[in-house]
Amino acid sequence: MAKADHIKKLVASFGRNQEFRAAALRIIDEATSQGKKPFAESLRKILDANVRADYQTAPQPGLTTLASQIDAAADLVDEIPVSRGLNDIVLNSDTRSLIEGLIEERRRREELRRHRLPVSTRLLFSGPAGCGKTLCAEVLARELSLPLYSARIDVIISSLLGETASNLRRLFEFAERRPCILFLDEFDALARTRTDIAEHNELRRVVNSLLLMIERFKGPGLVIAATNLPQSLDEALWRRFDDILSFDPPTEREIALLLKRQFANFPAQFDLDMPVSKLVGMSYADIERICIDAIKKAVLKKRKSISETEFAAALRQETRRKGLTSRRGL
Ligand SMILES: Nc1ncnc2c1ncn2[C@@H]1O[C@H](COP(=O)(O)OP(=O)(O)OP(=O)(O)O)[C@@H](O)[C@H]1O
Ligand SMILES: [Mg+2]
Repeated sequence: MAKADHIKKLVASFGRNQEFRAAALRIIDEATSQGKKPFAESLRKILDANVRADYQTAPQPGLTTLASQIDAAADLVDEIPVSRGLNDIVLNSDTRSLIEGLIEERRRREELRRHRLPVSTRLLFSGPAGCGKTLCAEVLARELSLPLYSARIDVIISSLLGETASNLRRLFEFAERRPCILFLDEFDALARTRTDIAEHNELRRVVNSLLLMIERFKGPGLVIAATNLPQSLDEALWRRFDDILSFDPPTEREIALLLKRQFANFPAQFDLDMPVSKLVGMSYADIERICIDAIKKAVLKKRKSISETEFAAALRQETRRKGLTSRRGL
């Protein structure tokens, strides 16, 4: 049963979509943690179908429309469609508890504010390719019912240097005006070590103003920066973030969880623990590709489950592909 407090909050927030969603999501989380997964999932479907997040509701006449607000920085961001939630990501236990803590903190930020406690707004995701940095930004967007905007770093920095600073300003103003997640992917491209560019005064000024914008960010949502080259980041930058989360390649435990998830709807005929050791060292994205390839092979053979042979063939295919891409230096 949901806690009485959560039900009271749900009823009290009637008419305010964002708060209603947050209260309902807490009941759903509670049901999930009590092992009532089917109930939690059906509740989630009902919620998503009937109570849309505020940012999705139609603009009211007389108010500035979403489109016109976005227009001011439309050339600098791409909206990323959001569909996957916490159940769709495999994380090591440290990162998972940080993420769950963040979600809890943001859902209950009014309580924290009443005690004059700050909420985390600036996060840095660090880790190699294909280990869940972008996926986790999507998961946070879904769990917090926020739209996800990815900054178009190429547009922001390919223009004349003088424009880069004003583009950054427009970008942060955009994220300060509305509840959203601003995702700064390939952050290293934007924030190269200042010593690297010591000779270039103008570039150094841009990096410095980026530091200031991150430090002063007071938006209602979150700024998430992601990098797979943490060593090339300026040390001063690390300090500007409230939390730094690392996304590492999966260990055996996480590989086993990922396989279970991948084959939840299309069963395997073999013991899923068997291939785990062969997959160590690969990223989540690599392993996901192997599973999808194996499922594809089975479907094309009109089978309803995957044999060990199909999995082994998909694994060989991936190993070959990896060999090719690393030889080409990709
Ligand atoms: N931790 C994970 N749990 C489950 N699936 C994952 C995980 N990490 C990656 N995947 C799968 O691999 C895909 C690609 O991962 P993602 O884009 O999040 O990697 P990334 O860390 O952002 O990589 P890059 O540095 O190249 O941007 C995801 O969309 C998802 O399907
Ligand atoms: Mg990414």
